[in-house]
Amino acid sequence: MTIKPLIILPDPVLRQVSSPVERIDADSLRLADDMLETMYDAPGIGLAAIQIGVPRRLVVIDVSKEGEEKKPLVFFNPEILTATEARSTYEEGCLSIPDYYAEVERPAGITVRYVDRDGKQQEMTADGLLATCLQHEIDHLNGTLFIDHISRLKREMVIRKFTKAAKARI
Ligand code: NI
Repeated sequence: MTIKPLIILPDPVLRQVSSPVERIDADSLRLADDMLETMYDAPGIGLAAIQIGVPRRLVVIDVSKEGEEKKPLVFFNPEILTATEARSTYEEGCLSIPDYYAEVERPAGITVRYVDRDGKQQEMTADGLLATCLQHEIDHLNGTLFIDHISRLKREMVIRKFTKAAKARI
């Protein structure tokens, strides 16, 4: 397993729409393992393949609490089937937007369809932090970032800050 470099805002790669994973083979499983290692190393609770520059519909998540047994979840081609009308708000962050956090309101519960590591189609109903995390990661597959869900003023401020920082690195 390899820790991959993360793509950081305002890299336009983050705005790409990812394509479906065609088959679950050794390469796609290795990609999932690399993503988990990269996520744990960061550390973070979710990662989409595009965040390491791979435009494929693949998400890894682990929302287990610190000190608890790790519960790595891998979702190939995840799709939201249903969302509750009830909404919940979490303070979100993103490994591609380091050290920035903002409250985002989303449906409190969702049902997702996805393909698991064995290539089997599965459905999962999620609420709480897992529901929020899944929605955040699935957004990445469509080129959407959590800052797209906050006010324009705040979003422009963050983008400006990160654009400046990126220029300073060159
Ligand atoms: Ni993110």
